[in-house]
Amino acid sequence: MIELNKLIINNPAEQNLNFNKPSNDKKVYIETYGCQMNFSDTEIVLSVLSQFGYNETSEINDSDVILVNTCAIRDNAEQRVYKRLDDLKKFKKTNPNLIIGILGCMAERLRSDLLEKRKMVDLIVGPDEYRKVPHLIESAMESGEKGIAVKLSKVETYDDIVPVRKEGISAWLTIIRGCDKFCTFCVVPFTRGRERSRNFKNIVDEAKMLRDSGVRDITLLGQNVNSYDYENTDFPDLLKMVAKAVPDVRIRYSTSHPYDCDTKLLETMAEYDNICNYLHLPVQSGSDRILKLMNRLYSVEHYMKVMQKAKDLMPGIGLSTDIISCFPSETEEEHKMTVDLIKQVRYDGAYTFIYSPRENTKAYRMPDRLSDEVKKERMDELIYVQREISSEIHRALIGKEMEVLIESVSKKSDEQFMGRTDCNKSVILPKEVTFVNENGELIKKHECKIGDKVKVKIVKANSATLFSEHILN
Ligand code: 5AD
Ligand code: SF4
Repeated sequence: MIELNKLIINNPAEQNLNFNKPSNDKKVYIETYGCQMNFSDTEIVLSVLSQFGYNETSEINDSDVILVNTCAIRDNAEQRVYKRLDDLKKFKKTNPNLIIGILGCMAERLRSDLLEKRKMVDLIVGPDEYRKVPHLIESAMESGEKGIAVKLSKVETYDDIVPVRKEGISAWLTIIRGCDKFCTFCVVPFTRGRERSRNFKNIVDEAKMLRDSGVRDITLLGQNVNSYDYENTDFPDLLKMVAKAVPDVRIRYSTSHPYDCDTKLLETMAEYDNICNYLHLPVQSGSDRILKLMNRLYSVEHYMKVMQKAKDLMPGIGLSTDIISCFPSETEEEHKMTVDLIKQVRYDGAYTFIYSPRENTKAYRMPDRLSDEVKKERMDELIYVQREISSEIHRALIGKEMEVLIESVSKKSDEQFMGRTDCNKSVILPKEVTFVNENGELIKKHECKIGDKVKVKIVKANSATLFSEHILN
């Protein structure tokens, strides 16, 4: 069991609160679906719960409360959650006192369905009402009352809450919540509400606290980080502040919008060594007509200029994107324009999605007439073209020396580590530093550890990963 009471609290007012914390032997199991923002929100929920003495458990069978933090971005994400809720029924049968709660983006849209039709759910809490989770659990436990808290807020940023983070050298740091862009396909403005930026002072303090606790890699998070605006401090200003405050920590961010990804931002990235040379810039489509229908606010020409500027300022920069295939009315020719754009940019990687109609969005009312067969063909082509490019880029790195920050033990072998380069390439590397002496013998020097930055020579590559056999320093 993970003791949540051990969270670090840097706010004296909270420390007093912590001092009077009620004791509680209840255990919470929490499962998270969807984007990094959801994982970051789970850390906030755990922090709120810890104030009421709840402990997290990784054993579902051992839990008094099961919470599912949900994602509504595409239909298949929702279907996964529905399926999971059906699976969870069995736990309620064996433990009738078990409390099951739904958190996050599916909350508002599905509240009637989940509470009324599927009696098993005890509470439903949207992304702006996480402070209420402990009270709603209590009411459900004491009186069986079903709790709903799904209002969206114009001000809630959870600025005073220090998230409970799992051990490791990487951390997310939320800087802005919500989105005002209203892309016509996207449900986020409806599920997460209006944009609100956190105070930059608290963001910088949190970054320093993370560094002091051993974190070496921070990702600044928001649905659209470029919209960050707090007392006339914009995103490039904030990025600079964080980079200066923790010069020994790698800084990344996600996600950026091409409309307001400007030269000031790219120059800031280029200026600071510890801001990673990596840009994830979702293009969504290579057709101006489709971009307009999507309300993306930029043209292909503008996007290509931003990409070129990024390449000029940061040679070797890692580039990735999101693409929606088969948006309503997309023609074969428009699909080919997206294929061409991929070939022109030569991304290191791309996340490709088939358009999924979402209720409430403008695109929901646009006729979606493509057959499943065409959708599959177009999607397969995008994936194939991108995979070929990723493989080519990676193969060209064989024989090159690269600096890698070791992040974790490799999922495939206890004998190896996984690390990332500054431009976000995953590298599998051995645990020991070795070198060849003058007799050609391999000498083991010392074992590396997670958090070390090491130099490696790439010896093998596929479309997703680089491999190295020797650490060079
Ligand atoms: N259908 C398919 N993909 C979507 N995305 C967002 N909404 C939809 C949708 N309705 C994709 C976009 C976005 C990423 C996070 O998810 O590409 O950038
Ligand atoms: Fe959705 Fe567009 Fe906002 Fe991204 S910028 S969260 S795609 S509405």
